[in-house]
Amino acid sequence: MEEKILPRHIGIIMDGNGRWAKKRHLPRTAGHIQGAKAFRKCLRHCADLGIECVTFYAFSTENWKRPKEEVDAIMKLFSDYLDEGLGMSEKDIRMKFIGDPEPLSDDLKNKMRGLEEKSSGNRGTICCIAVNYGGRDDIVRAVRKIAADGKIAESVTEQSITEKLDTSGLPDVDLIIRPSGEQRLSNFLIWQAAYAEYVFMDVLWPDFGEKELDLALEEYSRRNRRFGGI
Ligand code: FPP
Repeated sequence: MEEKILPRHIGIIMDGNGRWAKKRHLPRTAGHIQGAKAFRKCLRHCADLGIECVTFYAFSTENWKRPKEEVDAIMKLFSDYLDEGLGMSEKDIRMKFIGDPEPLSDDLKNKMRGLEEKSSGNRGTICCIAVNYGGRDDIVRAVRKIAADGKIAESVTEQSITEKLDTSGLPDVDLIIRPSGEQRLSNFLIWQAAYAEYVFMDVLWPDFGEKELDLALEEYSRRNRRFGGI
């Protein structure tokens, strides 16, 4: 049997929670609650498959424009899931958070830091959660860090930017999965996904499960990646 080529790093845009809820005449927050369950299921499946790293787009720098009640409900959901530990210990998952934590509550920041520390010795899948993340913001913060070291012109290189991004140390993204029928990147990992393959799916995120992830991985394994070569 032919061996399936697995991506080292998967990026997932968890989209469609609102539409899932609307279809059922439920409040949008019900969609996020179901979306969080899909997140946990998908993370565990990645861990079982031995995926090196998976990054979930949970909250973008633009998502603050949503009504305060919805933002508060999403933050509460994060907080509850972080308390739960996300199956880190039984699946040997290492947690990492990307994005600018500055506007988040102290409580959430402490929980995020705590989980990163607690799981730092785990050697299974790296679960990266993007909270208050924007790809452009990531690049701006990286270049500012380089500028702060002085000698700006010579020190700005592809390598130095890559090393200062929030994803420093992680491999580039190989596969971006976006459910819900939308076909755009929405400011997610724009630098890191320069050579990524994209799989867009019609399913809404709360309905995304093991089967959908397997389908996306099958599609990925059929792609012929050339990285600009022939
Ligand atoms: C996008 O769907 C979803 C979000 C902005 C929130 C994502 C949050 C979760 C899945 C919940 C928790 C996650 C963790 C890590 C515990 P949308 O609301 O834009 O959907 P729509 O396009 O149908 O309106």
